[in-house]
Amino acid sequence: MARRKTYSLLILCSIVAAGYGCGTKEPVSPAQPTASVPKHRFVQKGSVTEMTIVPEDVALPEAPGKNEFQSYCGICHSLKYITAQPRFPRATWEAEVHKMVEKYGAPVDTNVSKVIVDYLMVLNGK
Ligand code: HEC
Repeated sequence: MARRKTYSLLILCSIVAAGYGCGTKEPVSPAQPTASVPKHRFVQKGSVTEMTIVPEDVALPEAPGKNEFQSYCGICHSLKYITAQPRFPRATWEAEVHKMVEKYGAPVDTNVSKVIVDYLMVLNGK
């Protein structure tokens, strides 16, 4: 009687295990983005996941201010967020850069702002 109970328990366990796929699953890996592009690299170091960010693949015209634009305007959001905007007059781009500095704390001084606005006019000005 005791043996039969053990068998039934074993069978029940295997059904449950099969249902949940026990022992067949890969160990859980750190969260990976589902998008295939860009391919950031993730390395698990103890409890820390280190991420190497792939440079943004965005086509930018060669013009003065390109370096400043790339360095400062991609800190908080994608550069594509800017290149995807409609063409704006200079006053609008000036106001936009001013807003990034005053409201959001972009670390850009007045001289660099001017160079960036020049570049924004080449990129998306009208
Ligand atoms: C300190 C962080 C930070 C930096 C640096 C930064 N931005 Fe932004 N930017 C933001 C935030 C926050 C938003 C608002 C996002 C939202 O509302 O969804 C934003 C939004 C924008 C938008 C969308 C329109 C808008 O006004 O919401 C544009 C265009 C833009 N930024 C341009 C720039 C440019 C050009 C630079 C370089 C001078 C820059 N940003 C640098 C934080 C930053």
